[in-house]
Amino acid sequence: MGHLTLSEQLVYRDRELSYREKLVYLLSQELDFHCHDSNYASHDFHAFPAKFPPQLPRKFILELTNPADLVLDPMMGSGTAVLEAYINGRHGVGVDIDPLALKIAKAKVNAIALNPHPRS
Ligand SMILES: C[S@@+](CC[C@H](N)C(=O)[O-])C[C@H]1O[C@@H](n2cnc3c(N)ncnc32)[C@H](O)[C@@H]1O
Repeated sequence: MGHLTLSEQLVYRDRELSYREKLVYLLSQELDFHCHDSNYASHDFHAFPAKFPPQLPRKFILELTNPADLVLDPMMGSGTAVLEAYINGRHGVGVDIDPLALKIAKAKVNAIALNPHPRS
């Protein structure tokens, strides 16, 4: 069953997977996004140490939450997960002890909230 997609597993098992089963499945997947373009929306507004590739939180947000759910990142850094939550129709909430992180995250999310298509 390891090669089946999550959707196929849902059909295969004929029942909704538990949150834990989904998480285990996601963590078993390829999570290297180095070859992916991470410079969409406002993700490239500012550098930040150990920043997520946006595809990483996106994958978990889409598989583990529903539209309008709340996504919390308690150490949000530059707000990559919060921005992905917003872009994908969730409510993103972020916390960080670093004031610079808060400023960067606010700038990234506000840019998309004010102009959803900044490069079009
Ligand atoms: C690796 S960075 C997160 C980067 C983020 N995922 C991104 O994509 O930009 C870790 C963050 O955790 C924050 N942090 C560390 N300890 C914390 C604490 N006790 N409470 C809140 N934030 C904390 C740091 O300030 C830092 O911004």
